[in-house]
Amino acid sequence: MAETIRVLLSEEEVLKKVEEIAQQINRDYEGRELTIIGILKGAVFFTCELAKRITVPVTMDFMSVSSYGSGTESSGKVKIIKDLDLPIEGKDVIIVEDIIDSGFTLSYLKEFLGQRNPNSVRLCTLLNKPERRVKKEVTVDYEGFRIPDQFVVGCGLDYDQKYRNLPYIGVVEF
Ligand code: IMP
Ligand code: MG
Repeated sequence: MAETIRVLLSEEEVLKKVEEIAQQINRDYEGRELTIIGILKGAVFFTCELAKRITVPVTMDFMSVSSYGSGTESSGKVKIIKDLDLPIEGKDVIIVEDIIDSGFTLSYLKEFLGQRNPNSVRLCTLLNKPERRVKKEVTVDYEGFRIPDQFVVGCGLDYDQKYRNLPYIGVVEF
C-alpha cells in the first residue's frame, strides 16, 4: 500500500519552536547543569537541535525503548532496549521525546528514571497528541506543538522505519 506525505509543520516552523523551547530551558536552568536524555530513535534529531541551542552546561545521553511494533497503535508495553550510559543520581534531568501519544512511554520512563534518585526529572516533547492520551496523569513540562489525532512522520518520527530523515513534520495519508 503506497502512502503519501502531506506537510503539517515546515522545517522553519519546527526549528523556530526548538529555539523557543531552548530559551525557556535556558531560563529555567540558569546557573545549573542539565542532563538531557533523548529517546532513540525518534527523538534523536530533536534532542540534537535542542542541545545545540542550550547554553547551560549540558550532558547528553540516550535510551532506546520499544513501545510500538510496525503498525501505528501503541501496545501499552514498554521495554528497555538500551539503558543510559551515565548515572543520573543527583542530576537535573530532562527526558526528550519526539511525540507523546498514549503517554505509556513517558509515564514509564519518568517512573523508571525517578528510581535512580535524580534531583529532578522533567519531560520535553516536540509533539503532543492530547486526544490520544491514556495515561492522563503524565504532565509535559516543555511542549512544541499540539497536533490532532493523525499519524505523523519526519524530524525523527517514522512510519515502518521510513521518513525519519524528512526535515519537516508530515501527515501520512494512506
Ligand atoms: P506513547 O507511548 O503512546 O505516548 O507513544 C510514544 C511513541 O510512539 C513515540 O515515541 C513514537 O515513537 C510513537 N508514535 C506515536 N505517535 C506517532 C506518530 O504519529 N508517528 C510516529 N510515531 C508515533
Ligand atoms: Mg519514540
